Amino acid sequence: MSSRAASDETIKVTELVERARAVLRTNDVGLFVKPGTYQYPHQWNWDAALVALGLSTFDRARAEKEVRSLLKGQWKDGMLPHVVYHNGKSDYFPTPDFWQIERSPHAPPVSTSGIVQPPLLATCVRLMHEAACRQGTAADCEASLAFVREVYPALLRWHRWLHAARDPENTGLVCIIHPWESGNDNAARWVEPMIRVIPTRVPPYERRDFVHVKEDERPIRAEYERFIYLIDCFRQWGYDPETIYARSPFLVQDTFFNALVYRAHQDLVALARALGEPTGMIEDWMSALRYAFNHRLWDDEHGLYFAYDVRGRRLLKENGCATFIPLFAGLSNERQARRLVEEHLLNPEEYAPGEPGPTRYFVPTQAKNNFFYEPRRYWRGPVWIIVNWMVMEGLRRYGYDELAETIRQHSLELMQRSGFVEYYDPRDGTGCGATGFSWSAALALVMLQEEQG
Ligand code: DGY
Repeated sequence: MSSRAASDETIKVTELVERARAVLRTNDVGLFVKPGTYQYPHQWNWDAALVALGLSTFDRARAEKEVRSLLKGQWKDGMLPHVVYHNGKSDYFPTPDFWQIERSPHAPPVSTSGIVQPPLLATCVRLMHEAACRQGTAADCEASLAFVREVYPALLRWHRWLHAARDPENTGLVCIIHPWESGNDNAARWVEPMIRVIPTRVPPYERRDFVHVKEDERPIRAEYERFIYLIDCFRQWGYDPETIYARSPFLVQDTFFNALVYRAHQDLVALARALGEPTGMIEDWMSALRYAFNHRLWDDEHGLYFAYDVRGRRLLKENGCATFIPLFAGLSNERQARRLVEEHLLNPEEYAPGEPGPTRYFVPTQAKNNFFYEPRRYWRGPVWIIVNWMVMEGLRRYGYDELAETIRQHSLELMQRSGFVEYYDPRDGTGCGATGFSWSAALALVMLQEEQG
């Protein structure tokens, strides 16, 4: 790639920083920052981690509060749920009472959902802490270390839960039980395992996600019905991890999720070292995960990583952005990294700008030549800033600095042109999904820090 940006648009750094901070301030309801001004009015797990990271670029105390608020939702067994409903009911569905978490003996006093999301929290806490020590005074670094000391036990319990509850057979890989847990709700890799989920009795529900976002940018009805059916199964089983592992019709070892578990473990080790805590248990999880990840999820014929469907006992061979997340985690060897980048990321039939499409922006979330690719529908193709950030950081880990810089420029250009929205059409950069989207703003602040030296 020779061109740094999709066009020669100059990034107006100061203005973009101000606009990004304004989104986070607008969405700040005191205890937490809403992921989206209208569409997502509660605190989501991985959104909160990124929001804290973004806030830490200008207000560390507020960033730490965001983390503390999220941890208020932690279950007694260590699970960190995907949504915390600090402020009760809203126009968002599922409503807090829909989850019926009181059926579990582990439920916390605050209302939450009963499933999880990719564990980004340790990663963001580590990045916040290292920035505080790099950029601040010795006192700032000391205060940040005190914060790390405060939250570390909760992070460790969360990581321990992931292995205990979701890998009871010690395969090394952690399972997800619902597409929402992957964060990539309607990705193409879920089509096949969701066909096997037969929604025999779907409780009455009303979709509220079309109120603020266009219907054709959201998951389709057949998917949504199954999302709800799965929740209904879990609540009937009292959210008991053993029953869910034994009976859930959806049980997958996901590439995206496990790569982020591995990355989060690395970051947890760094935090443990800063505190002088033992790291042996975390390192054991890591070596088992690394081995299983590359043996089970790498497909050498295609040069891609695929998720493994535990119920269907096979790889889900859909080419999507999840294949690049192992780079963010440092899970690939040099050869795997080269194949991912040269055969796929730089291939205009799949991810690189150009024909067919044609597209202008990195990184579509589904390969353009994937049968299920749809450039405006949620996780079926649009560019998401979180994915661009992870791919950018992953490329840097493997020495592809120029390509990483191109992706950073594309991301900033998209946000400057179309605002801080949930996702972007890779063909022309049109903003899609929710508006006033907090993690886009948060990651703009992270990416712009480099511009500001
Ligand atoms: C939604 O409501 O679409 C979310 O992705 C579920 O967390």
